[in-house]
Amino acid sequence: MRQNVGMARKFVRKHRRGVKSPATSAPRPATQTPPEPDKGYYPTDSEALRAADAALAERGRRLDGATEIDPLEAAEPTEDDGQEPDGGPGEGLEALEALEADDGPDPDATLPPEAPKPPPGSREFKYGTRLRVLRKIADGGMGSVFLGEQLGDAGFAKTVAIKIIRSDRLADPKALQMFVDEAKLVADLVHINIAQVYNLARYKDRYFVVMEFLHAKSLSQYLHLFRERKARPPADMSAFIVSRVCRGLDYAHGKRDRSGRPLGLVHRDVTPSNIMMDFRGAVKLTDFGIAKALTMNMPDETKVIMGKFPYMSPEQAAAKPTDARSDIFSLGLILYELLTGTRVYTPRTRDELLKLMNNYRIRDPRKIVDDLPDELVAITMKALEKDPAQRYKSAMAFGEALEQFMYGKGYGPTNEKLAAHLLELWPDVDRDKVE
Ligand SMILES: Nc1ncnc2c1ncn2[C@@H]1O[C@H](COP(=O)(O)OP(=O)(O)OP(=O)(O)O)[C@@H](O)[C@H]1O
Ligand SMILES: [Mg+2]
Repeated sequence: MRQNVGMARKFVRKHRRGVKSPATSAPRPATQTPPEPDKGYYPTDSEALRAADAALAERGRRLDGATEIDPLEAAEPTEDDGQEPDGGPGEGLEALEALEADDGPDPDATLPPEAPKPPPGSREFKYGTRLRVLRKIADGGMGSVFLGEQLGDAGFAKTVAIKIIRSDRLADPKALQMFVDEAKLVADLVHINIAQVYNLARYKDRYFVVMEFLHAKSLSQYLHLFRERKARPPADMSAFIVSRVCRGLDYAHGKRDRSGRPLGLVHRDVTPSNIMMDFRGAVKLTDFGIAKALTMNMPDETKVIMGKFPYMSPEQAAAKPTDARSDIFSLGLILYELLTGTRVYTPRTRDELLKLMNNYRIRDPRKIVDDLPDELVAITMKALEKDPAQRYKSAMAFGEALEQFMYGKGYGPTNEKLAAHLLELWPDVDRDKVE
C-alpha cells in the first residue's frame, strides 16, 4: 500500500511536469499563442490550476458563510446562515464548529477495521477531499443533515447531503463496528429507488455519511400534510409510491458482493421518514443498513428505538432474526397508513408492541375508508400477514401485485404524474432550484 502510494506520487509528479504517456497526452499548439477554444488547445497544468483557484475563489465569494470540512487542513469556522431547519431538536452546526475548533487532524483517523488488502496490480493515490457545508437541512433521529458540496478541482462542486451522526449513537464500540460494516455493505447499492451513499468518513471523532442530495419531501411530511388538511392521499399514488419502494428493496435484498455471494441485506427501518419523493417524481428509500447499527446494542436501547415501534414487524418486535419479508411487513404498514390515514398500531413501548402482537388483528381498511378498491386492500393485507411465510415472498412480488392493480386496466401513475401531484401540494417549490 505504501509502495502504491509512492508510485502514485511519482506518477502525479511526472504528470505535473507535463511529461505525458502517449495514451494520455493531449494535442498542443506548437507555440504558446493565446488559447483558442475548440481548436485542439488544452490548458497546461498551471493554467488549469490557476483557473481552478479563480473558480474556487469565485464560488467561495458566492457561497459566503459556508463551512468547509477539509480532512487535511481544517477550514475557518463560519456562522450559521440563520435559516431554520425543518426538523426537531438535535445537534447542529455547533457540532461542526466544535469539531473545527479542535487542534489538527486526529492521527488515528482511520475507519475500523483496516481496509482489506487491495488487489494486486491496483494503484492508490491520496488526494484531499474537501466538503463545503452550506446549511442545515434538518435534525433527525440519527443526527443532523446538512446541504453541502463535495469539491473537486477546476471549480467542480457536487451537491450532496452530509449526515453527521450524533456521537452518542456510536458511543458503544459494537454499534460503531456494525455501523461501519453496514455502511461498507451498502456502498455499492446503486438504484434509482435508493438514495445513494457516496462516502462514509470520520473527521476528528465524528462520523458522517456523504450521500445523494434529494430535493424531496419525505413520506412523513406528505402524510403530515394530508393529516393537517383532514384528507387522505390518493389511493393510486399511494400504490405507486409503495411499488417504487418495492423495487428499491428488491434490488437491495438480492444484492450480491463482488464474488457473487448474497449479502442478505435487510433495511430494518422502513418508515415514512426514510422514504423520500423528489420533485421529479422519483421515490427513494434512504438510510439503508444504517438503522441496524444505530438501533441495536445501544446503552439505552428503549430510548434509541423509540418512534420506530409503529413500523416494526412481529419478528422484529420479538427480536427474532429478520429477512426481506420483515421489510415487506413494514412497507405494508406504510401502505395501510397511506390508504386510511390511520396507523395500524401506535405502541409506545416494546412491551405494548409485544402485547399487540400476541393478539394480532388488523382492522379491515374498508371500515375506515369505505370506497377503497378490494384488490388494493387484499394486497395490503397480504403484506401484513403475521406469519412471514404467508406474506409476499419478495418485494418484487409485492411490487408486481401493486403494478397489476395500477396498470392492469390501462395507463396508470408514473413518475411524471407523481411529480405533478407533489407540485400541486407544494406549489411554492421550484424543482429546479435547491435554495
Ligand atoms: N439525502 C438527503 N437529501 C435531502 N434531505 C435529506 C436527506 N437525508 C435526510 N434528509 C432530511 O433530513 C431529515 C432527517 O433525516 P434523518 O435520516 O437524520 O432522520 P429521520 O429520517 O427523520 O429519522 P430516522 O432516519 O432516524 O428514522 C429527513 O427527514 C429529511 O427531511
Ligand atoms: Mg432517515
